[in-house]
Amino acid sequence: LYVVHIAAEMAPVAKVGGLGDVVTGLSKALQKRGHLVEIIVPKYDCMQYDRILDLRALDAVVESYFDGRLYKNKVWVGTVDGLPVYFIEPLHPDKLFWRGQLYGEPDDFKRFSFFSRAALELLLQSGKKPDIIHCHDWQTAFVAPLYWDLYAPKGLNSARICFTCHNFEYQGTAPASELASCGLDVQELNRPDRMQDNSAHDRINPVKGAVVFSNIVTTVSPTYAQEVRTAEGGKGLHSTLNLHSKKFVGILNGIDTDEWNPATDAFLEVQYSSNDLQGKAENKRAIRRQLGLSSANALKPMVGCVTRLVPQKGVHLIRHALYRTLELGGQFVLLGSSPVPHIQREFDGIANQFRNHDDIRLILKYDESLSHHIFAASDMLIIPSIFEPCGLTQMIAMRYGSIPIARKTGGLNDSVFDVDDETIPFQFRNGYTFLNADEQGFNSALERAFSHYNNDPQSWLQLVHKVMNIEFGWDPSASQYEELYSKSVARARAAQR
Ligand code: ADP
Ligand code: GLC
Repeated sequence: LYVVHIAAEMAPVAKVGGLGDVVTGLSKALQKRGHLVEIIVPKYDCMQYDRILDLRALDAVVESYFDGRLYKNKVWVGTVDGLPVYFIEPLHPDKLFWRGQLYGEPDDFKRFSFFSRAALELLLQSGKKPDIIHCHDWQTAFVAPLYWDLYAPKGLNSARICFTCHNFEYQGTAPASELASCGLDVQELNRPDRMQDNSAHDRINPVKGAVVFSNIVTTVSPTYAQEVRTAEGGKGLHSTLNLHSKKFVGILNGIDTDEWNPATDAFLEVQYSSNDLQGKAENKRAIRRQLGLSSANALKPMVGCVTRLVPQKGVHLIRHALYRTLELGGQFVLLGSSPVPHIQREFDGIANQFRNHDDIRLILKYDESLSHHIFAASDMLIIPSIFEPCGLTQMIAMRYGSIPIARKTGGLNDSVFDVDDETIPFQFRNGYTFLNADEQGFNSALERAFSHYNNDPQSWLQLVHKVMNIEFGWDPSASQYEELYSKSVARARAAQR
């Protein structure tokens, strides 16, 4: 198959969170399975340009419509991790992707509706005929209605559209009139069975539009797919998802096991594997040195947390966890950053309070290298999310021999299985889980983990060994996407005959 991903992120060059990891990881796995895969992303000023090979501008510019006129787009092509990537640079006076950050701009709706249309123009004008156009999250959700309203009639008609929603919290709603800028017909689309937001009739909802207009709709774990079909979990879209349930499925993400491999990880002080955990201990020593934490007790358990600090991630439980870890005699390292000013301020305050403490460090920024060090150095990693579509850090942690302590929700429920849960076959038990999103709930898991670590080191080591050997690669999930793509393409061909 010929698959084109259109997305706002791709790791490692343009990444805010898991979306970037998934676009790259899934694409590499599909490529390995023999498919032709290309990716289209915006050309941001703040990308990691050193990770792009052979970046060059194409001679032909792509013209795309917006706000009643045509704009030129410079198109760049390069290779990231063996994947062909097109970077679109709109020659627009507002410098749409020249803002020093990927998202969080007041005109995000305009930036990404512009980009979605320009990406389809690139496919049309370069004569590409993908079998599957796969768009992700609200930023590229516009691709689905644009394709059926404007591009399929123009001849880009070979494709089936797959939409993956990585998080239904972010739906990109806006006043209905704003949709007109990218050339979509507001009258036609601002209807309850199309793009109209389910709770505000004068607003349109790009994610709803993609659910309605795509051939395949996925989200990133089976449990989350169930949760979003309920009134409590659907963030207003449960009725739409239930209406379109036949084409909606949850596929658990994998992780990129080349990128996340303690045996080859170039970020680490010392590489290691499950057969030689000396290296893990050395990484713990190194991070203690680097962050100025006490090294007096080599065995003191280190609890890590690598996260965006947003309410979804259970910030009140993260805050609680650092105090509770201290009380239990552990060390705590948090790497996180927040787009929410009051959360960032609150954690800045805590970081300051513990600035010289022997056992706690809060590093409040995005830092790829440090994230690898924390996965490698920590004995446990906490993920106390209120909801979690999939979550990747629990899988990354396990690969690095750090035991996840996670709330039973969404993809965490599909990937972390409690060591003490006798209803689960022993070989699948790999971490500590809790259900109630409160301090008691969290304590019940953390305390059991500490007691296991302190009282039965031998069995803890066996657990570490076991989780490091769990297969979290992308191949099983990629094969599920492949099956969905193939069936959809086959249905379309059969309908044409
Ligand atoms: P989400 O996409 O909701 O943020 P995921 O668990 O799916 O959550 O993915 C988060 C990804 O971003 C992981 O690869 C994690 O290591 C990374 N990450 C999160 N916060 C930071 C940070 N402050 N610095 C470096 N990497 C981070
Ligand atoms: C979103 C979700 C996260 C998921 C990631 C990749 O950011 O919050 O749970 O793992 O997308 O799909």
